[in-house]
This record gives sequence, C-alpha cells and structure tokens, in this order.
Amino acid sequence: MSKAIESQPVGVSLRRRAIIAAGAVIAMPLAACGGGSMMDDGSMDVDLRDDTSTSPNGRRSLPLLRLDDGVLDIAGRREFALRAQRGSAQLLDGVDSATFGYNGPLLGPALRVRKGEVTRIAVQNDLGETTSVHWHGLVVPAEVDGGPHQPIAPGARWIAEFMVVNAASTCWFHPHAHGSTGRQVVAGLAGMLVVEDPALEGLALPSLWGVDDLALVLQDKRFTANGRIDYALTANDRVSGYAGDRLLVNGISGPVWDAPAQWVRLRLLNGCNARALSLRIGDALPMLQVANEGGFLAAPVVRMSITLWPGERAEVLVDFSRVAGGQDVRIYAAGANGAMGGMGMGMGMGNPAGSAEVTAMVIRVSRARQAGAIAAPPERLPVESIPTPGAAATVRTFNLDGGMMSSIFTINDRSFEMARVDFTVPARALEVWRFVNRTMMAHPMHVHGVQMSILSRDGAAPPAHERGLRDTFVVEPMQTVTMAVLTPAAASAVPLVLHCHNLEHEDAGMMAQFVVG
Ligand code: C2O
Ligand code: CU
Ligand code: CU
Repeated sequence: MSKAIESQPVGVSLRRRAIIAAGAVIAMPLAACGGGSMMDDGSMDVDLRDDTSTSPNGRRSLPLLRLDDGVLDIAGRREFALRAQRGSAQLLDGVDSATFGYNGPLLGPALRVRKGEVTRIAVQNDLGETTSVHWHGLVVPAEVDGGPHQPIAPGARWIAEFMVVNAASTCWFHPHAHGSTGRQVVAGLAGMLVVEDPALEGLALPSLWGVDDLALVLQDKRFTANGRIDYALTANDRVSGYAGDRLLVNGISGPVWDAPAQWVRLRLLNGCNARALSLRIGDALPMLQVANEGGFLAAPVVRMSITLWPGERAEVLVDFSRVAGGQDVRIYAAGANGAMGGMGMGMGMGNPAGSAEVTAMVIRVSRARQAGAIAAPPERLPVESIPTPGAAATVRTFNLDGGMMSSIFTINDRSFEMARVDFTVPARALEVWRFVNRTMMAHPMHVHGVQMSILSRDGAAPPAHERGLRDTFVVEPMQTVTMAVLTPAAASAVPLVLHCHNLEHEDAGMMAQFVVG
C-alpha cells in the first residue's frame, strides 16, 4: 500500500487523481473486489499514517471525556447544558488547529443519562453557523431527535426534553444539519451519551470513569500544511467518503493512557466520517465484547479484533492484569475508507485486507489494581430485545444505490429532500426492513427513532456479537441485511431519517425520511 506522501498532505496519489479525472470511478470498487490488489492500484487514497513516537514517554496523555451527570431539578428532571463553540486545540502535538467543540474547544462531554428519567438538554449554538445536535442511538420522539428538522440557528438555543427509554448502552451525539454534518463532525463536534439503567446497579462491570471505564472516540482527520483541519473534499472523498491520514483518540494523535492492572471497560466509538476501523490490542490480548450499539450482549464474546463502522460502538472488557506491570500495550487500528470497506470487514474477520496497521494509542499498565476492581467479568448479561416479527409483518425494502460514475447516492432511487416524506409507518409496529446494497461499497446504515435488531445477512443469522439491539449496522457490498424494526411509540408529523452513516454519502443524499402516522 502506498504510504501517504509527505509532500502531499492530502495523500491523494496523482495516479488516483488521473483515474478520477478520466471519469472511471467505477474502476475503483471493481478493482478492489477483483483480487485484493487494492493497494497497488492506488484505489485507497489516504492511508493512516503511523505516528513516529516509539516510547510512551514522549506521548501526550489521553484526554478524558468529562463525565457530566447533569443536575436534577426540583421536578426530578435531569438537566444538561451544551454549548457548541469555536476554539483551538493541538490535535497534533505542537500544532494549533481551529476547532469546533461542545463545552470546550474539541469534542464534548460524556452525558450520563438514566433510563426512566425525564432528561432535558439545552443547546446553545455559538458556532456562528447553523447546526443541530442529534442523540445518536437514543430512542426519542422526532420533535427532539436533533436531526435535520431541528436546526439551531446561529446564536439560538434549542431544548430537547425526553424520557430515556434505552437499555444501558453507549450512545453519542453529533451535529446533523442537512449538508453540513460531515464538515462539522470533522471540525470536532462529537460527544458521548452513557445510558445507565438504575435497575442494573449491582452488575459487576467496571464503572469508575477514567479509571476502569474509559471512553475512546476514534476519528481520522487530515490537516493542511499550516495545521488547519482539512475538509476540502476531493473527488474521491465524494465517492468514498472523507478519509484522513491521522488517527486521533479523544482528539489527539497517539496518546498514552495509564491503566490499572485489572479488568478495564473500553467504550469504543468509531467517530470517523467514512473510515471503518479494525481494532486489536497488544500481542493478542483478548477483548471481551459485552455490548454493541444498543446494549448488552447476552454473554460476553471473545474478540481478537473488532471492526467498527462509522457510528458504531462496542463495549469491551480487557484484563490488564495479564500485562506485566510497567509494560505497555498498543491499540492497533487498520482503517479502510468507504469504498474499500467491504469484503468481510463488517463480519469482524480480522484486519481489512491489505490496509496497514497503525498505533492508535499506547496503554501503559502502570497503576496498581484499584479499589472496586471487578474480580471477573460476568458470565451473562441482562439483555433487552425486541420480538421477532411474525410472517404477517410489513416488509419494507430499501435499495442502496449510487457512487458509480458519480457522487450521487440514493435510497430507492431517490436522493434526500427535506420537503419529501418517503414513507409512513404505524406507531409501535413490528416490521421487517430489508436493506439491499446494490453497490460495490459498504454502507453503514442508521435509523433514527426506532429499536432494531439484525435478523439476517444474506439469509444467514448474525454472529453472537451482532445480536441485541442495534442502531447502526453495515451492509456489505451487494449484500442484503434484514432488520427487525420496532417503530416509534407515538404518531408524529415530524419526519425521522434513515441514512448511510458514511457522512459524505449522507450529505450527498443517501438519506430517506418517514413519519409515524
Ligand atoms: Cu449518527 Cu443520523 O446520525
Ligand atoms: Cu442517529
Ligand atoms: Cu454509504
């Protein structure tokens, strides 16, 4: 694979540009599929670059997302305040970049919300441009979803109030104003939502924030020669999605984190616009996956590597007492961009074919076992699920198309239009939604406002780690994924969206909308 060329910060090979100029974009996905020589044909434009530091000592320590419990008002409502603002931060060591952030220059807090509680989040938009804040994964009414229909004008304040109904899980929030989502996320807007279920208080999972419970936001970005975050989309970005050559963890490149010698829970979020990430730890340190997007798995699943698509999350437990004290282990990431992503990656089958691995971060096992450490991971976990739809259930089909010879992406042959509602669903209905990928690219699909689980991939039942509640799932090239969908509880004329979470595909129209009638 061609390494990003230093003199070309964007990393687009000249040859690749020539291919695009010739209008032969179609050659790229086909070549990738033909036989794994995707590196030689230059089809994957931007490779992740390994950082140069070798020892943990020269590295900056991992910034923690600030855990925010909000405040309870007299009515028992939990209140949070977010301010979307501009700032400046050193994402790369020693380089100041202009950024966007929530309650700070970059990224945002982790809002800890509780199932069964009325929650109120006030958002102040001080960006100087329109934004919105979407609660990705939370099952909330369309009116407060924070999608493209709840724009917040510059200077304005928007309040979302809802009851938390989700299972305990790791969700996140990010901007979603139509057409600017990709750019605003790359500029730094993303935060976490930690959903707790008070009924599960005694569950033996690591839960000391920043000590044995660590949130990791993984994102790729690229920078101009003078340190600006570069979101000038290339022709290839418009097809494959934005790809950066630097991988950042909680906003900085190649950080180090000091771990205690005990079981630690990592809440992993792929916050990239378009890049799939295949993650592994150290020299074959097992990750015990306990949750995916929507909540716990019925039992922990041992994973040697985990592939996450944009918008996807996983919670894993790692036993750092297996690492000799003072030693360090690395989290390695191999990344592929949207066009190249398919070919088995979504099934978690190891590293994306041919893409180079880089060090995402270093974990130095330098702290003693802490009070409150769990003795052993639970053998079973409390799962919430939705029933399997019966034979009479409504079946809806979503054909995913586009990207061939153009950067137009469609769902059922249509590009997103704010004013057009594509379909209506009844409230609280159990339906079957089929996502048919007719392209040679993988599309990580996401639906707002509903609960879902995977019924099958090309007819086959999903593996254990793909079960449970989901809100984002990849549809591999030419694959059909069938989902069980529980529609929203209440009727509303405000549209909810479903879209590809490759944010450039979303911004280019790979989004549809529905109302609950
Ligand atoms: Cu994470 Cu519609 O978005
Ligand atoms: Cu969402
Ligand atoms: Cu897509």
